[in-house]
Amino acid sequence: MKTLLVTGGTGYIGSHTVIELLEAGYRVIVYDNLSNSSIESLDRVYKITGKRVEFIEGDIRDKKKLNEVFTQYDFTGVIHFAGLKAVGESVKWPISYYNNNVSGSLQLLESMNRHGVKTIVFSSSATVYGDPIDLPLTEKTPTGSPTNPYGMSKLMVENILSDLYVADKSWRIARLRYFNPAGAHSSGLIGESPKGTPNNLMPVITQVALGKKKHLYVYGGDYPTLDGTCIRDYIHVVDLAKGHLAALEKCFSSNGVHTVNLGTGQGFSVLQMIKVFEKVNKVSVPYKIVDRRAGDIAECYANTHFAEVYLNWKSKFGLNEICRDSWNWQLNNPDGLIK
Ligand code: NAD
Ligand code: WQD
Repeated sequence: MKTLLVTGGTGYIGSHTVIELLEAGYRVIVYDNLSNSSIESLDRVYKITGKRVEFIEGDIRDKKKLNEVFTQYDFTGVIHFAGLKAVGESVKWPISYYNNNVSGSLQLLESMNRHGVKTIVFSSSATVYGDPIDLPLTEKTPTGSPTNPYGMSKLMVENILSDLYVADKSWRIARLRYFNPAGAHSSGLIGESPKGTPNNLMPVITQVALGKKKHLYVYGGDYPTLDGTCIRDYIHVVDLAKGHLAALEKCFSSNGVHTVNLGTGQGFSVLQMIKVFEKVNKVSVPYKIVDRRAGDIAECYANTHFAEVYLNWKSKFGLNEICRDSWNWQLNNPDGLIK
């Protein structure tokens, strides 16, 4: 049985991916400092899969602990989710973001290298493309200049990974550029559990629908789009999780740097999202259109052709399932999992 280290595995995308890995027969060791998640998510994973995951509480910047872990287990590969992800926060606390995301990834890579574990699947983001000149975004679209430390940290790690492969061709690296992850497991047992006030659209929609917030503020109604609101490519987290399995298998079959967009190829506006959510769940989401949010781009969606041919992976779920599953999760867990 192949053993994998999953950093950040108690988090939103990590916990959904752990389910897919367990169901595919991998042994999974989760390493997480619980700064933005709860260990409860792994109990939920057990309820869903009937399989236990070993958990180690630790920080990816902790060299000593990482080396102990790499000495204890014989890993076949690493799926690296751990990091901080709030764009606005990253502008306020750049040191913390570069420290967690860049220094932390470097520390992890150093430990991997030392122990001869040279397979890594890295959580990157479509944010590395910056403000798109041409849509849809393909993997050949040049990376841009992310306008915030979070995006810059992802681009920096992407570059570190490609330099690593130039220096040592035995590495097997997947750089996965996620578009907008949303949705939850259909069981309603795991989902996005943001600490503090959520910033991403879907958790705000569910909180408004639940009555925790009075209105959804729609940031900008004057973009050059079909209805004036921003367009994004929302991908169901379970589809995203399956994309990691496909990328891991690609790494096992060939050395190299495999850079792939994980999106659906379809863009939806904020108002379209609200309407679908209301219709699917038969609830109301009151909203007010307000000024644009600094740093937002009008439109962003993926070209998914490469993922289909290269990874043999394609998203299956659409906006209806994303809205249904997000609501089911929120209704069952109004306060999320983080205590
Ligand atoms: P999340 O916050 O739910 O999960 C990240 C996990 O990493 C958390 O469990 C947190 O406790 C852990 N962590 C943070 N810093 C750590 C450290 N220094 N050491 C050990 N553990 C640490 O976030 P998510 O949405 O599941 O995102 C997972 C990855 O995907 C992140 O790297 C994120 O940047 C990236 N990503 C997310 C999105 C998104 O919209 N959710 C989009 C693109 C990329
Ligand atoms: C989506 C749309 C908002 C909240 C960010 C990061 C990206 C990745 C995904 C981590 C935008 C609008 C939102 C609200 C709104 N994250 N919106 N009212 O900005 O596309 O991407 O999250 O890796 O790197 O940049 O996602 O969910 O914040 O916003 O009108 O209360 O919803 O303006 O158009 P975004 P989002």
